[in-house]
Amino acid sequence: MKDYLVADPWQVIEEDFNPHVQRISESVFSLGNGRFGQRGNFEETYSGDSLKGNYFAGIYYPDKTRVGWWKIGYPEYFAKVLNAVEWSRVDIRIGATTLDLHKQQPSSFRRVLDMRNGLLQRSFSVEIEGHAFDITCERFCSMDNKDLGVLRIILDSATYSGPIEINSFINWDVLNEDANWDEQFWIPRDAEAGDDYARAMAETKKTAFVVASAMTWEVAGAHQVSSRAEHRELYSTNVITLSMEAGKAVTFTKYAGHQSTLYQEESRLFDGALTVARNAREQGYATLREAHAQAWHAWWDDADITIDGDVKAQQGIRFNIFHLLQTYTGDDPRLNIGPKGFTGEKYGGSTYWDTEAYCVPFYLGSFEPAIARQLLVYRYRHLDKAIENAQKLGFTDGAALYPMVTMNGEECHNEWEITFEEIHRNGAIAYAIYDYIRYTGDDAYLLEGGLEVLIAIARFWAQRVNWSVPRSKYVILGVTGPNEYENNVDNNWYTNYLARWCMQYATEMIAHARTLDAAATEAVLEKTTFSPSETERWQEICDDLFLPEDPHNHIILQQANYLEKEQLTVDDIPEDQRPINQNWSWDRILRSCFIKQADVLQGLFMFEERFDRATVLRNFRFYEPRTVHESSLSPCVHSILAAHLGLEDKAYEMYLRTARLDLEDVNNDTDDGLHITSMAGTWMAIVKGFGGVSVIDHQLHLNPLLPQAWQGIGFHLRFRDNQLHCQITRDTVRINNTSGPEIALIVTGRPVTVRAGEHCVVPFVESSISSS
Ligand code: BGC
Repeated sequence: MKDYLVADPWQVIEEDFNPHVQRISESVFSLGNGRFGQRGNFEETYSGDSLKGNYFAGIYYPDKTRVGWWKIGYPEYFAKVLNAVEWSRVDIRIGATTLDLHKQQPSSFRRVLDMRNGLLQRSFSVEIEGHAFDITCERFCSMDNKDLGVLRIILDSATYSGPIEINSFINWDVLNEDANWDEQFWIPRDAEAGDDYARAMAETKKTAFVVASAMTWEVAGAHQVSSRAEHRELYSTNVITLSMEAGKAVTFTKYAGHQSTLYQEESRLFDGALTVARNAREQGYATLREAHAQAWHAWWDDADITIDGDVKAQQGIRFNIFHLLQTYTGDDPRLNIGPKGFTGEKYGGSTYWDTEAYCVPFYLGSFEPAIARQLLVYRYRHLDKAIENAQKLGFTDGAALYPMVTMNGEECHNEWEITFEEIHRNGAIAYAIYDYIRYTGDDAYLLEGGLEVLIAIARFWAQRVNWSVPRSKYVILGVTGPNEYENNVDNNWYTNYLARWCMQYATEMIAHARTLDAAATEAVLEKTTFSPSETERWQEICDDLFLPEDPHNHIILQQANYLEKEQLTVDDIPEDQRPINQNWSWDRILRSCFIKQADVLQGLFMFEERFDRATVLRNFRFYEPRTVHESSLSPCVHSILAAHLGLEDKAYEMYLRTARLDLEDVNNDTDDGLHITSMAGTWMAIVKGFGGVSVIDHQLHLNPLLPQAWQGIGFHLRFRDNQLHCQITRDTVRINNTSGPEIALIVTGRPVTVRAGEHCVVPFVESSISSS
């Protein structure tokens, strides 16, 4: 745990320079606009430890797989979003000295992430050549113009008069730290520079994406400004020389435009990028900054959450929402949400089950349905590849296995116990369709792709089971559940339960689709060569699918033999041996009973309305003490269930852990990037956990629990045609029907109706959640 960032409701603040945690800070202070993003690297030279990172969504390279022992079925490539152009670098020389905070100790330092306005700011004082300098930097990736990045640096000294050299460059000569074969992934295409601009264009190897970046600039407060243009392969620059006068601040502004073949014809990129930069300069820094801030305000208007009385909790939730929106804004069905977003290389920027299980609810609950729908369409577009993927593993007849990790639909993951066995991901993809339909009411999506996906997934499960003679049950053998600290287990309850649900849901949705449009449904069934005998078979399997339970303790079993393990709790692990994945051998972890992330509890969370409270409580009491939460995806699920069970302290503890995971480096791994996908879990912890929001039989329910530390929480909620604002205080729940028709809902167990544009106030009966 690190505690060096200052709590503030709208800002993340670092007060002193902490070079020993520079990589963590670079992750925390990352910027992005859904189209491109970057780590919080300094603008100027920094020769200390740093992970440089700039990324363009959807621009990837299939890096040839490197494994110790090859297994048939492994993918040949791991597609990764590439480290791309350094556009925000500006090397500064003052006299004969290069500004470099690794070499010059700043006497004061402050770095701020302004989340309301989407700005990264830094100010510091440093002595160079015997003169004190105050330097401030500000930059943003424009939310208003997704092709634009802008930065401003102000240099001020009361005593220094003399030359300053600013090297403002565009650099494609960058490497990925995680390259499998130490390869340079970019091929030079063109580079050129003039008096007031520089531009360079590069192409990815194999995938042949071409991206052009260009910059132009302006200087105020200096005289004798001259510039020298230089370029070479993958790099172009303006070296600007100016004369600074003591007591007069110099302001340097850099405007960088980007264009790629993802959105533009190749022939237009080189000029297009420069046009973006030049137009930006014409509009000017203040105008661009204002437009960017306004765009952010519009996102916040839909998605902000307030927590009264607890600044750390407030900062945590805004930090999470901010980074989610920097990563994904739902305007392109080819894009998705990598577990680290644009904040690091780990996980390759590729798509995991995290998207469906964690992120879809955030986008569904906050914004118009079109945004979450893009994430569904992303998987629909990959359906053929998922069918091919299943075929490679021996499945037939249109069965689909979606990849564990993917960029373009092809599997990238290459550890057999996950690639081939962590198949529960298929269930999350079906569940997202269910979630989408119940939140939006848009069941027409079934006939626009949803049903095809559901059928293909159900087919997979029907082929993945086998009949066990000793058990007289269908079983699913050799899987890895969400708890990756157990591999190759038989009958993981979560997987089996989800498999059964997928087959049942697909059957129901075929019937439901017929009621919507019989002819269109027949067309889908024909396209998928569906036969009615398939649903009969699914039913037969569902009737007899083994779900392991312990008859003595009346708990669900994570997998059939779980109780044979030595039963310890997390309290038995000495503090200095945690996290166990950084201290124990893999063998020891696998043999232990310790659980990496919610597994049985993940299932109880997803299907909670099907279980009575006593069952959820018994299982929570059993599994929570055995869970080490070494996946960032875990604490939010525990927080939500604890809130529903009235276990306030646990819910609060788990909330803080998820919300401040990266702000405090809880899992000791924020240096390689933020846990973007689990940030959506933090949103769920507030809305579904403390807000107690659920949808039962097409109706919205709110059953809040307000932690003692908080005076109130407020959140927006999209449900069907309504946008609501919910404010929960100690005494009341207030629901504002901000847009949409009259809505009937259940608040703390009472039916209420809120007319369009009006609000209702319901007394908050905390006892409606019995605490145990
Ligand atoms: C988790 C997986 C998750 C992946 C990416 C792993 O540590 O165990 O469930 O999909 O990280 O976030």
